[in-house]
Amino acid sequence: MTASILARVEMAPRDPILGVTEAFNADANPRKVNLGVGVYYDDNGKVPLLECVKRAERQILEAAPPRAYLPIDGLADYDRAVQALVFGEVAARRDGRIVTVQALGGTGGLKVGADFLRRLQPDAEVWISDPSWENHRALFENAGFSVKAYPYYDAAARGVDFPAMTRSLRGLPAGTIVVLHACCHNPTGADLSREQWSEVIEIVRERALIPFLDIAYQGFADGLEVDAEPVRRFADAGMVVFVSNSFSKSFSLYGERVGALSVVTSSQEEAARLLSQLKRVVRTNYSNPPTHGGKVVATVLASAELRALWEQELGQMRARIRDMRQQFVDQIRWRAPDRDFSFVVRQRGMFSYSGLTKDQVQRLREEFSVYAIDSGRICVAALNSRNIGYVTEAVAAVIR
Ligand code: LMR
Repeated sequence: MTASILARVEMAPRDPILGVTEAFNADANPRKVNLGVGVYYDDNGKVPLLECVKRAERQILEAAPPRAYLPIDGLADYDRAVQALVFGEVAARRDGRIVTVQALGGTGGLKVGADFLRRLQPDAEVWISDPSWENHRALFENAGFSVKAYPYYDAAARGVDFPAMTRSLRGLPAGTIVVLHACCHNPTGADLSREQWSEVIEIVRERALIPFLDIAYQGFADGLEVDAEPVRRFADAGMVVFVSNSFSKSFSLYGERVGALSVVTSSQEEAARLLSQLKRVVRTNYSNPPTHGGKVVATVLASAELRALWEQELGQMRARIRDMRQQFVDQIRWRAPDRDFSFVVRQRGMFSYSGLTKDQVQRLREEFSVYAIDSGRICVAALNSRNIGYVTEAVAAVIR
């Protein structure tokens, strides 16, 4: 073979989250536990297939729909259902000023939004929280933006450093894109209070910043309505708002890649122009989204019975995670009485920002085959009655 142009391709580092799953999969230890990726497992350690999804799939299968291309912006029923679920009764929705395009998971929604914004505001910077979901920085950088971080988490206080956050936001120039986690902040589990959101919304409006809200865990903090409140309040505040949402976790449909990008605009006419541009982004990336996941979600949300079942199943997931948080705290207290992990029960969503150091995370992996993210983030939703003893024993050993 002639000299390969690929000879100078360097080995990329493993993905900080999905790379942990790759390492976990390669581990032969039967006691291994994956607390890395944000996936909900049931008490048997399995990713559940929700009953509401099973029933919707049965209906879809019976109807045997042909697999034509979906429209570029996705299934219309799905896009409408997303708007209702995420935005509720906001005026912008009633007025037809929200544009929604089905996307490949929440990541896909972020990417479509990022690519579009890069064309619209090529010189803008993107500001994410410090810390943030590992992929936020990479995704926006990959879209061509320079990405910076505003202070968010105070490790010593195990909560949001709100004065530092607002000071930073107040200093940003108009047109800066600010990425905010609507609920269940990933990775810290530390959310803003209602009052704090009011202040952030006010700063964003006053400074003419562009808010990009990421809501990937709707229903995992307090419930579907309460968790979506920050999004709705932004939408009601009279500004352009970008929102990516995901059903990976709330419908346990990870592999189907079901999410969306929604944008609140100022008029129906503006919405129509925006949609035409978002469709161009989608068409030049992957043409149009796949049918199955969107159809399942739309079917569940369109049926009063299936929707009630879904809310019940989501509530059970939420309750089990809470229970695991409590058990984690209790068992660590028992195994390492001089250490206080009570903050874990106050964190929201699937994760605990445990405070474990990178070295401790490495020891967990090497000595116990317990996998976490280098930042110390652990997925509480992967704990169960069978592995909680083993995991807390391992954690107690590395913090001793
Ligand atoms: C996570 O943070 O673990 C999840 O959002 C999964 C992912 O794609 O990173």
